[in-house]
Amino acid sequence: MLEIKNVSKTYGQGTAKVVALSNVSFRVDEGDFIAIMGPSGSGKSTLLNVIGGLDYLSSGEVVLDGKRIDNLDENDFVDIRRNKIAYVFQQYHLLPSLTALENVMLPLTFCGLGKGEEKGLEILKGVGLGGRTEHKPSQLSGGEQQRVAIARALVNSPSLILADEPTGNMDQETGKEILGLFQQLNVDGRSIIMVTHDPDIAQHAKEIIVLQDGQIIDRINQKGGKQ
Ligand SMILES: Nc1ncnc2c1ncn2[C@@H]1O[C@H](COP(=O)(O)OP(=O)(O)OP(=O)(O)O)[C@@H](O)[C@H]1O
Ligand SMILES: [Mg+2]
Repeated sequence: MLEIKNVSKTYGQGTAKVVALSNVSFRVDEGDFIAIMGPSGSGKSTLLNVIGGLDYLSSGEVVLDGKRIDNLDENDFVDIRRNKIAYVFQQYHLLPSLTALENVMLPLTFCGLGKGEEKGLEILKGVGLGGRTEHKPSQLSGGEQQRVAIARALVNSPSLILADEPTGNMDQETGKEILGLFQQLNVDGRSIIMVTHDPDIAQHAKEIIVLQDGQIIDRINQKGGKQ
């Protein structure tokens, strides 16, 4: 479904030039669960950003369902975010003044799909937050806030979920719970690309891609991932 072809990304020019990604290629098929690992500054977030349309690449192609998406402008990418690719961040990025339910419903509102309260409630229940729908982010634990962010990512039924260190702000126990949620989404048929520093988390993916200095230096197939 997704092909990353010879993707390179450089920031800046001259002596300030940084090669964040260099000739990265891999593909993501339906049902894949890929963990991206590598030292700080190796290009992990940059990779997710160019896949998710948050940043332009310098050369190469990103092809989704047979169609190039790396050269789309912001308006055209809206359609893809609406239906196909969702993002989950380490810092949750919830709106503090909105309740959990309102945060989850936000993408529906933006897409002009009405209020979608029922759908929002159903998805919040699905991530185990049926009893927290009226809480504001500040009234929720880190793990709960990440569940809201995941629910928000799911509201438009994406086929691919990009997650940048989604468990990075949590203790190990809570991180395991969030991982369990991603595993469930994967079993339900969604493809996942997850950046993580935590080997205990990464070993549950089906494949680990290791980046260093913007290049893929290793790919570890884990035969379906540890359950
Ligand atoms: N907007 C930017 N302008 C200039 N350089 C950048 C920019 N964003 C990232 N970089 C550089 O690109 C390289 C890759 O950064 P990236 O954020 O992808 O690393 P990362 O692997 O996600 O690291 P971390 O584990 O610390 O999150 C780094 O050297 C970084 O300094
Ligand atoms: Mg990063």
